[in-house]
Amino acid sequence: MQSVLVIGATGDQGAAQVAALRSAGYRTAGATRDATRSCLPCGTPAVPLDLNDPASLGSALAGFDTVFLNLPSASFSDPAVVIDGFRHFLRAAEGTGVARVLFNASLYVGDEAKGYPAHDTRYQIVEELLASRVAASAVCPVIFIENLMRGWALPVLRERRVLSYPHAEELPVSWISLQDVARLMVAFAEDRSTIGRKFIVGGPEALRGPETAAALTCAWGETVRFESLPVEAFAREMGSLFGGGERSASERITADLAAIYRWYNEARPSPFTVDMEALQARYRISLTTVYQWGLEHRLLA
Ligand SMILES: NC(=O)c1ccc[n+]([C@@H]2O[C@H](COP(=O)([O-])OP(=O)(O)OC[C@H]3O[C@@H](n4cnc5c(N)ncnc54)[C@H](OP(=O)(O)O)[C@@H]3O)[C@@H](O)[C@H]2O)c1
Repeated sequence: MQSVLVIGATGDQGAAQVAALRSAGYRTAGATRDATRSCLPCGTPAVPLDLNDPASLGSALAGFDTVFLNLPSASFSDPAVVIDGFRHFLRAAEGTGVARVLFNASLYVGDEAKGYPAHDTRYQIVEELLASRVAASAVCPVIFIENLMRGWALPVLRERRVLSYPHAEELPVSWISLQDVARLMVAFAEDRSTIGRKFIVGGPEALRGPETAAALTCAWGETVRFESLPVEAFAREMGSLFGGGERSASERITADLAAIYRWYNEARPSPFTVDMEALQARYRISLTTVYQWGLEHRLLA
């Protein structure tokens, strides 16, 4: 691996990958649909690319031997459009000199379709990618600790000192930071034994809601409580946040998220719980605990 194009570089997941690749010394560029941008906010060169405009792909991929691929949400956008965009990319990658692809599925992906659009779209993409002629690996991070900084979690945390999340109180959750996902992707990209494989990744510990709140309490020096947010209330809020003011979109998002979050809470073994010991040992990576992340992100200040 010498030169890497990060697709989805303007999102927070892709931005963390750009930073990890640059600090590992790789020549890196970030793709964006915004053709007026010559560089990303971090100063990394920008390359114009639209997954749904196949004509833009050949020239964008030229000159890169590796691609870190991040795709938009199949909850907040049409799953068929996301899959089309992926297939355009795959055809272009197979037709150019791209030697290696690291796909960030952005969420847990099981070994079969589950009947939830967000999951099944990623499942189909992982299956097609790993069966393709491209030397690819897929990373499936279960849940980002940075979600605590988003509009659906941060205000309650700041205003009421409450970690309000749609997890059952007893659910062990392996929160992972975006920086750690990016470091693992770099490690997998450098290791050819990961080709053709999918990795479910999480953080170094699986904490129940009250344990997560206790870790943040220690880091921030202020008491944080956990409250299990009813799945339906969470899904409704996300539907109105991401529905773009359209009733049908909002209802679809609400129904999809309610169904998948019920499954996240009820499935055994839990899609949110991962044992990362073997991967940490293999790549000599020490993943970030919730406490350590809290020290670096003082959200109450
Ligand atoms: N596991 C978790 O805890 C968790 C948490 C949050 C999100 N997620 C998942 O992460 C995924 C992505 O999240 P998001 O949608 O919120 O990402 P995002 O941060 O909005 O980023 C989307 C990225 O995709 C790029 N993009 C969109 N359409 C494109 C196209 N047609 N061609 C090329 N690039 C395109 C955008 O680039 P430009 O706009 O610059 O073109 C942007 O960089 C979703 O599946 C979501 O469910 C998971």
